[in-house]
Amino acid sequence: MGDGGVALVELAGAGKSYGGVRALRAVDLTVRAGEVHALLGENGAGKSTLLKILSGEVTAGEGAIRIGGEAVRIAHPADARRAGIAMIHQELDLVPALSVAENVFLGREPHTRAGTVDRRRMLAQTREVLERSGVDLDPRTPVERLRTGEQQLVTIAKALSLHARILLMDEPTSALSPREVERLFTVIDQLRADGVAIVYVSHRMDEIGRVADRATVLRNGEVVAEFSAAELTAARAAEAMVGRPVHLMFRAASGADGDEVLRVSDLVVRPRTGRREPDGISLTVRAGEIVGVAGLLGAGRTELLETLYGASGSKVIGGRIFFRGKEFRPRSPRSSLRAGMAFVPEDRRIAGLALDHSVVANTVLSIVDRLARFGLVPGRRERAVAEGETRRLGVKHSSLTDPVGALSGGNQQKVVLGRALLTEPALLLLDEPTRGVDVGAKAEIYRLLGEAARAGVGVLLASSEPAELVGVCDRVVVVRGGRSVHELDTASAGEAELLAASMGDVR
Ligand SMILES: Nc1ncnc2c1ncn2[C@@H]1O[C@H](COP(=O)(O)OP(=O)(O)OP(=O)(O)O)[C@@H](O)[C@H]1O
Ligand SMILES: [Mg+2]
Repeated sequence: MGDGGVALVELAGAGKSYGGVRALRAVDLTVRAGEVHALLGENGAGKSTLLKILSGEVTAGEGAIRIGGEAVRIAHPADARRAGIAMIHQELDLVPALSVAENVFLGREPHTRAGTVDRRRMLAQTREVLERSGVDLDPRTPVERLRTGEQQLVTIAKALSLHARILLMDEPTSALSPREVERLFTVIDQLRADGVAIVYVSHRMDEIGRVADRATVLRNGEVVAEFSAAELTAARAAEAMVGRPVHLMFRAASGADGDEVLRVSDLVVRPRTGRREPDGISLTVRAGEIVGVAGLLGAGRTELLETLYGASGSKVIGGRIFFRGKEFRPRSPRSSLRAGMAFVPEDRRIAGLALDHSVVANTVLSIVDRLARFGLVPGRRERAVAEGETRRLGVKHSSLTDPVGALSGGNQQKVVLGRALLTEPALLLLDEPTRGVDVGAKAEIYRLLGEAARAGVGVLLASSEPAELVGVCDRVVVVRGGRSVHELDTASAGEAELLAASMGDVR
């Protein structure tokens, strides 16, 4: 740790362009053995690109890499593996149909003497690595049955199983709730003690303070600041990232007293394996109100929102839902959308975005019907709408006709949110809407939510970040084991109460 460690990774003058877009320019970075080096920057600053240069997924245009003092050429992921480098990706990269164990050992399955895949050894070793990271999952479960947060834990376990001496972590905690984050940090502390060099990317500033020994800040692909742990504060880091002082501001609770938009009473959904379906959830959302849904990973937050939106094919077997004063039966996303709901799902790649399609197409996806109905030429009109919306949200892109997949993660998230707001919903259902979003953009998203609420939209916001729930919501409903067990008024309760209630320390 500190300046005493051996320089394991040395990057000098690294640069990269994608077509005409300059993603990185003349970046120097040194990471020592036993050091957790945070890499910070706004969405699109070049963090993932830098990691991918080290993992061999992207070839640097310029620059030199030394690993353990020796010059190496990393032109392919296999080169990186040989150099002892493993990466946890920002976007989950598991094969859905394969089991947890098959994913962990994909491409390097152990074999029996007879030459077949040694399943027993694979299962045993997977169990071991899951246990080491404190993950309670059956290695035989197909990955597609797991929630996003659980999948994230599997990718972490997979990277750990490689016993790398250099570990690149690209937003490893974006889908994890506080308890899982704390477990990961315990593992990181152990790795640090073992002399592993870790590059850690996260937009959660509280984590950086907890885990990082040093931090490098990128802005527009260039290094603009470096901090030691002692110098690092959230405000300083944010200012370096954005280039001006940032107000880490949340919206004050509104105490809205509009009509009830949503009433859920004793909602029970038929149980299915691998999901924590609602099993006694009651809550209300008024027009103009932002209501939070808190709970640990696996508490059933996502399942609640998916059920309300009709997105999960789940079957309501008990309780009632009232939407805009009338009894409501969720049938399909399409009919919910038509009724006046909008949904921003947790995993933008699966339910949110068509990655190969343009920014324009993705932005206007949910309102094309309406645009067409007014007899407008879709092409021009779509473009204008998308242009206005991306500007309002501050989406950073080089061209509206670029595929959404070429945008940085946080910018993809803004496109999904913008599209939901465009439908002018009465109720906005949000599942981790600021996942992977930078500090500046987060403040921007909170501002937009406040604006929507003031315009009378009811918002139901599921989040694993206590600071976000307490700072943004009027009230927070705590879900545990599929039940709503507690409700907090954020005017009087803070993060500590929220955490206690999520973990079950409060009745
Ligand atoms: N495959 C690609 N094709 C074209 N441009 C790309 C591609 N990948 C990244 N870019 C561009 O390179 C720049 C840096 O992107 P990068 O993904 O490294 O940002 P980031 O710092 O990881 O952002 P985030 O916090 O949103 O994940 C962005 O302008 C992005 O649009
Ligand atoms: Mg990234």
